[in-house]
Amino acid sequence: GIDISKLLATTGHITIDDGYGNTGSTQSAITFLDGEKGILRYRGYPIEQLAVNCDFLDVAHLLIFGELPTAKQSEDFRRMTLRHTMIHEEMRAFYGGFPREAHPMAILSSVVSALSTFYQDSLDPNDPRQVEVSIYRLLAKLPTIAAYSYKKSIGQPFVYPQNDLSYSQNFLQMMFATPCEPYEVDPDAVAALNLLLIVHADHEQNCSTSTVRMVGSSNANLFASISAGISALWGPLHGGANEACVLMLERILEEGGDVKKFVNMAKDKKSNFRLMGFGHRVYKNYDPRCIIIKKACDKVLSKLKIRDPLFDVAKELEEVALNDPYFIERKLYPNVDFYSGVIYRALGIPVQMFTVLFAMGRLPGWIAHWVEMHKNPNKRICRPRQIYTGPAERPFKQPE
Ligand code: ACO
Repeated sequence: GIDISKLLATTGHITIDDGYGNTGSTQSAITFLDGEKGILRYRGYPIEQLAVNCDFLDVAHLLIFGELPTAKQSEDFRRMTLRHTMIHEEMRAFYGGFPREAHPMAILSSVVSALSTFYQDSLDPNDPRQVEVSIYRLLAKLPTIAAYSYKKSIGQPFVYPQNDLSYSQNFLQMMFATPCEPYEVDPDAVAALNLLLIVHADHEQNCSTSTVRMVGSSNANLFASISAGISALWGPLHGGANEACVLMLERILEEGGDVKKFVNMAKDKKSNFRLMGFGHRVYKNYDPRCIIIKKACDKVLSKLKIRDPLFDVAKELEEVALNDPYFIERKLYPNVDFYSGVIYRALGIPVQMFTVLFAMGRLPGWIAHWVEMHKNPNKRICRPRQIYTGPAERPFKQPE
């Protein structure tokens, strides 16, 4: 019954763990991850099985409520969610104010944060009814907010959501339809997007999820907490790696396709260059999500009859790196971000939108963790300690 961390804190003992490599921040029943064996399960179900058998919204239900929905629950959840797909017309004014070349992740976190200005009736984290409505609102509106940010960047009018379509279908039509031309959504593209959203849906206490928990621990509302998570995801060491990885692969091609040169550069600490989409804090084995995505790349490219030289470069780079002692010794394997860009490109999604797609996938995980944290009877505000290393006390003296 003794809480060691409380005991240590009251006796003045502080543990330092840079980057929280070995600090558990919570107990959680959502996602199981074994980085040595390369295992990932949501609520006990292997990711490999969920990825090929489920609809993304059913996986969202699983993560947030703990169980896969029955047919009736699935239909109800879909209906309750999709009725919120529109965003307030006055939110368009935000898009008018953003510069056209703004990064869509910046727009995404800003507009999600602004949801708390429009939906003031669902901000109380302690009111289950309000939390439920804000969950529906977030799940429904994120694809609309995301697609609008793309339309803004190319100067096209916004395309409204269509609630009779599936989650992925609806997103693709908002991205690619125009008032002049409807968009014929290819079922293979829809299936590929659905799979990608599922494999990104949760990954326990990663940087963005920990951020969502950290912000939520102060009883900030769900919109504010998710907006913070989106900002954390944007960084190239986290979700931003999918964009950075494709830019790296393009650079390799542009510079003649010499993958060994780039592997050598990544080994040289002075170069400040890392192989994007490689390495992971927890996986010391092949990232199981990467295996699923790599297989899906083959399938999608052949179904859509696309030959992407970037996929060939990525495979070659992987092979060279995995046989290099530097990467072997450090157990550095390709991660979820290494091949996902190949599929996004095949779907016609521009590179700046890649991390936005990651955010759409990760949203149910963020929500599930926020909800789980609030249900914990022992919840306390997250407030890490420090060891002070600055000057000792000194008297005030005006600098001359
Ligand atoms: N390329 C070259 N060397 C690498 C790479 C890489 N991609 N990743 C790690 N290393 C090296 C480090 O230089 C370090 O070497 P050292 O022991 O000689 O100092 C060693 O491997 C351990 O790396 P750390 O940075 O200590 O590992 P950490 O767990 O802190 O970082 C991270 C993990 C951020 C993912 C890192 O591997 C990285 O920067 N990868 C590239 C970015 C990326 O793909 N991020 C996406 C991760 S998945 C996700 O968040 C969705």
